[in-house]
Amino acid sequence: MSGRIKAAVLASGRGSNLQALIDAARDPDYPAEIALVICNVAAAGALTRAAEAGIATTVIDHRDFADRASFDTAMDAELVKNDIEIVCLAGFMRILSTAFVEAWTGRLLNIHPSLLPAFKGLNTHERALEAGAKLAGCTAHLVTPELDDGPILVQAAVPILPNDTPGDLAARVLEQEHVCYPLALRLIAENRVRIENGRVLVDAPSTETTALINPAPF
Ligand code: GRF
Repeated sequence: MSGRIKAAVLASGRGSNLQALIDAARDPDYPAEIALVICNVAAAGALTRAAEAGIATTVIDHRDFADRASFDTAMDAELVKNDIEIVCLAGFMRILSTAFVEAWTGRLLNIHPSLLPAFKGLNTHERALEAGAKLAGCTAHLVTPELDDGPILVQAAVPILPNDTPGDLAARVLEQEHVCYPLALRLIAENRVRIENGRVLVDAPSTETTALINPAPF
């Protein structure tokens, strides 16, 4: 296990993306280990998943702090104390202060359930359905102070089918989140990413990819 980059995951909820990262990191060849999970919610399912995997957990409840800055300072201290090098947000439902984001620039990742820059913010699946979009998807990106706006690392697209409910679509997208997020963390941990003008350039990217057209041509 030694020699791998130490990553932390910040989560507020069920933690299925955390699980995908934990599962990926079980491979000794994966370049990062999930060394710490911080939750701001004591009942978060993410804590159970971390404990089952033998990963250290910390609850830092934002309600115990007078303001965002002091909450973020406490999280930063916990990350630094644990020698964390990369931080992955995975369903972490707090907005981070600019100071925190800047302290972790280039080492702070997020997974968002839309094809950014479309549908930033919450309720992405409802909004994609309302818009009549034919494709939806997810985006793993680096975090910048502006919400859901940082350089894009990995995206996956899925079709929106005629009778989809937001829940159907969420499930289809989530499956791809679990593929994209471990890939994004790998790219950062392997130092294969350069940012130019806010765009990510990946060293030696795989070019095996196909178009997704919905409805399919006939
Ligand atoms: C995911 O859909 C993620 O894209 C969004 O919050 C959700 C978290 O789900 N940021 P989980 O806790 O990882 O299962």
